[in-house]
Amino acid sequence: MALFAQDKNLAIELVRSAEAAVMASGRWFGLGNKNEVDRAAVEAMRYVLHGVHMKGVIVIGEGEKDEAPMLFNGEEVGTGEGPEVDIAVDPIDGTRLMAQGQDGALSVIAAAPRNTMFSPQDLFYLNKIVTGPEAANYIDIQAPIEFNVRIVAKAKGKAIHDTTVVMLDRPRNETIRDKVRAMGARIRLIGDGDVYGALMTCLTGHETADLLLGIGGSPEAVITACAVKCLGGNMQCQPYFRNDQDEEKAKARGLTRETVLTLDDLVKSDNVFFAAAGGSDGDLLRGVHYHGTHIETSSMCMRSKTGTIRYISAIHSQKKLEEMGDNIEYDPNANEDK
Ligand code: FBP
Repeated sequence: MALFAQDKNLAIELVRSAEAAVMASGRWFGLGNKNEVDRAAVEAMRYVLHGVHMKGVIVIGEGEKDEAPMLFNGEEVGTGEGPEVDIAVDPIDGTRLMAQGQDGALSVIAAAPRNTMFSPQDLFYLNKIVTGPEAANYIDIQAPIEFNVRIVAKAKGKAIHDTTVVMLDRPRNETIRDKVRAMGARIRLIGDGDVYGALMTCLTGHETADLLLGIGGSPEAVITACAVKCLGGNMQCQPYFRNDQDEEKAKARGLTRETVLTLDDLVKSDNVFFAAAGGSDGDLLRGVHYHGTHIETSSMCMRSKTGTIRYISAIHSQKKLEEMGDNIEYDPNANEDK
């Protein structure tokens, strides 16, 4: 007990950067501009991260795939003192959802000891399977889809038709979708945000899906792996190549279609931290809401070593933040309104 009381929980500090990201980017909710959503979130997250007591290096910055604004891979963040950590961020997972005024966008960030996170480099997509603690020991990404759906249902004591599979709604996932449909399992198709999709499967007692399947972003996979470690679930991935060029580049690193990346391959450490804040409303977290004088955020943070999950509901005084010299652009129209 004494050990953990003295041991700093980095997730509690990191959650502030996710809150800042949603407070800044939420001003762009529904305005149709993905780049501004991302830019506002990235700038706010970066600003807060610099005050966090750590020697952090961004290893998952996200953004290269669609040339969005990003925290750069190799960028140093934190005060330069304290724990040496790899940092993985997706300032908004579900940028399109935010820009289109839709539910389910999150700001997510994870930390783990230096050199313990998988670096996707030019590998943009991974085929993923994720489930929560009850079925954690049974999934096998090399086995047929039907096997995995059946084994998860069995481990959770459910009938197939009571089992829900969540996946990104993409043409590249249609074969998987059709196989799941043919079995009669339920499907939750999400437009974006497969970190959130994975979280849905791992929150024992509150899960809204049993299994995540399908191809999604590699950076998001590493962030997801950190969350899954905190929640005691399991995740496996295999490379997915868009074309021969992708395949050639991966081959040079020893990665083929058959390579299996386990949870430990994605993040080696058992001392990982994860934080998320709701960008737009969702059934896990409420989105950011503006009430004139104050801003309301809803967030969570967790740590694998202790398994503690915290939900944080915060009220931020916009005026006080501005008076303190906080230079985050929480209100891009502030000057026009005055
Ligand atoms: P961003 O909002 O960070 O761009 O990611 C959204 C997302 O849906 C991820 O959750 C997912 O892993 C990835 O995009 C899938 O990529 P694509 O949209 O290219 O299919």
